[in-house]
Amino acid sequence: MRKRKQKQLTRKITTIEYGEHDSENKRLGCIFSTTCDVLHIGLQTARRSVKKEIMSIYRSTVWFVKGLKEYTKQGYLNASRSFRPNDLDVDVTGKSFMITGANSGIGKCTALAIAKKGGIVHMVCRDSIRGEDARKEITDTTGNQNVFLHLLDMSKPKDIAKFAADFETSGKNLDVLINNAGCMVIVRELTDDGLEKNFATNTLGAHVLTTSLLSVLNKAEKPRVILVTSGGMLVQKLDLKDLQFEKMYPFDGTMAYAQNKRQQVIMTEQYAKNYPNIHCSCMHPGWADTPAVRMSMPSFHAKMKDRLRTPEQGADTLLWLAISDAALQQPSGLFFQDRTSVSKHLPLAWSKSTKQEDEQLMASLDELSKQYSTLS
Ligand SMILES: NC(=O)c1ccc[n+]([C@@H]2O[C@H](COP(=O)([O-])OP(=O)(O)OC[C@H]3O[C@@H](n4cnc5c(N)ncnc54)[C@H](OP(=O)(O)O)[C@@H]3O)[C@@H](O)[C@H]2O)c1
Repeated sequence: MRKRKQKQLTRKITTIEYGEHDSENKRLGCIFSTTCDVLHIGLQTARRSVKKEIMSIYRSTVWFVKGLKEYTKQGYLNASRSFRPNDLDVDVTGKSFMITGANSGIGKCTALAIAKKGGIVHMVCRDSIRGEDARKEITDTTGNQNVFLHLLDMSKPKDIAKFAADFETSGKNLDVLINNAGCMVIVRELTDDGLEKNFATNTLGAHVLTTSLLSVLNKAEKPRVILVTSGGMLVQKLDLKDLQFEKMYPFDGTMAYAQNKRQQVIMTEQYAKNYPNIHCSCMHPGWADTPAVRMSMPSFHAKMKDRLRTPEQGADTLLWLAISDAALQQPSGLFFQDRTSVSKHLPLAWSKSTKQEDEQLMASLDELSKQYSTLS
């Protein structure tokens, strides 16, 4: 609108000052008009990027202050005072759980706790040695022989679709799917498929696995799907224009990761809406001392290490969402922290996307799934 007015004004000035028929003056008018356009666009872009920068600083500051209070070990201890102690007294014998990234950190703690309670555990891991070491440790500690290792790289959509198809064909049942595997790759890296690694693992991989296992999950009595997201997503608004961070200059792995985690929160809401038979939720573990934090955020880890949660504390809400009856009393599609559903947005952060944008994300993920995971 402003641009059109600007053009009209420029045309008027040219006509009044130089006369309609003077071609040299017309040429000058044209240069003047183009210069105005360029300046106008430049100004708008600069204004937009300053606004974006200020918003980004605001969100990160508010988030960090919130984190110091809530995401630390002390935050967990404070929150745990209002936990109901019997919520986790559940016998899950015969129930089947699939956990991605189950060889380490939060995923391994969850696998161990479920195995202790008698559940059948399908550990989905990408490395045979790390996976087998963890499987053996869980079986040795709990005496539960129903702990199985599946080798799968969550950044490879075709392998995920094949794994899910084989799982279904084998006739195994599944009550709870836990999408826990996650990464924060700091330098922009592409998979063999040409997908950006963080997006391929955190977003597309979780989507392909979840949607490929729907028919197995739907056979369960009260199926659940859980996504391990991150409170880091609070600093991001969904950005549909750059799902694979091709336009992110310079590439910022922390922000790419946070964007993926925002996408997981929206995916959870959309799964809840689209698959009403499945109880879907996502959660933030808090800041827990795990290999991911140590390796991907070494300076954060060094500064915060005495205040970080143990992996068990980080896994507490995940376990609660996976096994407790109390979790099923909550509506599907929510975001949890310390056994409580919490807001998906910081106050005044302008991070909400529209219904259309959320649906567009799912359409893009479905399209990419079709493109990259169709089995020939
Ligand atoms: N720790 C925290 O403070 C924190 C905070 C917010 C959110 N989270 C989320 O919590 C989840 C678990 O992370 P964690 O902190 O427990 O870290 P972790 O101990 O490093 O666990 C990450 C797991 O994901 C697996 N993984 C990564 N990429 C994979 C791929 N392409 N295919 C299969 N598995 C893959 C890792 O396997 P390898 O061992 O083979 O690498 C590992 O088992 C992640 O989704 C993370 O984003 C953690």
